[in-house]
Amino acid sequence: MSSKFFKELRAKDPFYEHGTILSSMASKPLSIAVKAFFEFLDTNAGDLILFKNIHRMERYVVKKLVKILGCINGRCSGYIVSGGSEANFLSLWLLRNYALKNRRIRRPEIVASYASHYSIIKAANALGLKIIYSRLTKDYKTDPDDVAEKVSRNTIAVVANVGSVELGTVDSIKEIAKVSLEHNIPIHVDAAFGGFILSIMENLKFKKFPGFTCNGVYTVTADPHKTLFTPIPSGGFFVRDHKFLKHIRFKAPYLPGKTTETLIGTRSGGSIASIYAVLKFVGLKRLKKIYEKCYETAFYFYQKLLKIGKFKVYGILETPIICFKPLTCSTDALMKKLWKKGWTIYKCSIVDGLRLVFMPHVNRANVDKFLSDLISLVEH
Ligand SMILES: Cc1ncc(COP(=O)(O)O)c(C=O)c1O
Repeated sequence: MSSKFFKELRAKDPFYEHGTILSSMASKPLSIAVKAFFEFLDTNAGDLILFKNIHRMERYVVKKLVKILGCINGRCSGYIVSGGSEANFLSLWLLRNYALKNRRIRRPEIVASYASHYSIIKAANALGLKIIYSRLTKDYKTDPDDVAEKVSRNTIAVVANVGSVELGTVDSIKEIAKVSLEHNIPIHVDAAFGGFILSIMENLKFKKFPGFTCNGVYTVTADPHKTLFTPIPSGGFFVRDHKFLKHIRFKAPYLPGKTTETLIGTRSGGSIASIYAVLKFVGLKRLKKIYEKCYETAFYFYQKLLKIGKFKVYGILETPIICFKPLTCSTDALMKKLWKKGWTIYKCSIVDGLRLVFMPHVNRANVDKFLSDLISLVEH
């Protein structure tokens, strides 16, 4: 089969570099990450005897990543998994088993807000966890006072968001931690999108992500395939103490390693190699520059949108996501018209608006083209 066949097949779907994909939290992977991925394409991180080097590389990247996420005691650990959904699942699975082992719980519950990603709801369903929904503040963040009302003796974890999927909002981890520490309940932070951005950026208008520096935080999801620009699949599942991993440790008698602490057995060594490449050869300074550009473009769009005066704009750009709602027409009708013009844009259902994710492939030139289409559609 010729490569022309695959090129043509691939070209039936859009490419990030076309600049029309405004909905995605992934972007074109960095070339060094792609090279590393291909080099290790046939390696299985689930077989640490056969692929010892991948095993070493995974320990190296996890050590670096937890440090970025605030681990200062050298005890944090974790795994590179398939994505944020799996990392959220593993986190809640671990925290449920930890709670069931140490406390008398009749019906395990989690407290999570309506801004949580649907993978939290799926995981709760699979793990038999009842979700107690906490209120959002007027800024669409988890309300710590309401969390205090909602936790009970059955709560196995409070879920917080750092870069919520629809609005990009960042919960006040320190305020939530006050509640969780008072009741001795672990926090799981879904920082799939915002974790690395808000840990690596300096001179932020907003507070940095405290991550593991915050005592109540037991588990964190932070995804390399979103904001370290590595190929899909690569999610990050991190725990504050490697000892907690025993709660999801299972026997794998036929393997020389004898145990596993992940959901899936065979895992992509390529994913680990690509993160290794980004950390070693791209570095945090360059990542910071890439993030700064994303924020700049987002801010540029934000100001233009306010000037047009025909939209209600949500969010305060804590992460590079903007949500807006047309004042003169229906959101669904506008979205359909934008799709017809070739833009890929999704809704932020919480406010019945439209959402733009400012990843590196969304530059000013694309934003200007989009704005011109947007203006023509709301004016006619
Ligand atoms: C906040 C958040 N958590 C979890 C996920 C799930 O990640 P994945 O699609 O990699 O499974 C997403 C995906 O967009 C997300 O935005």
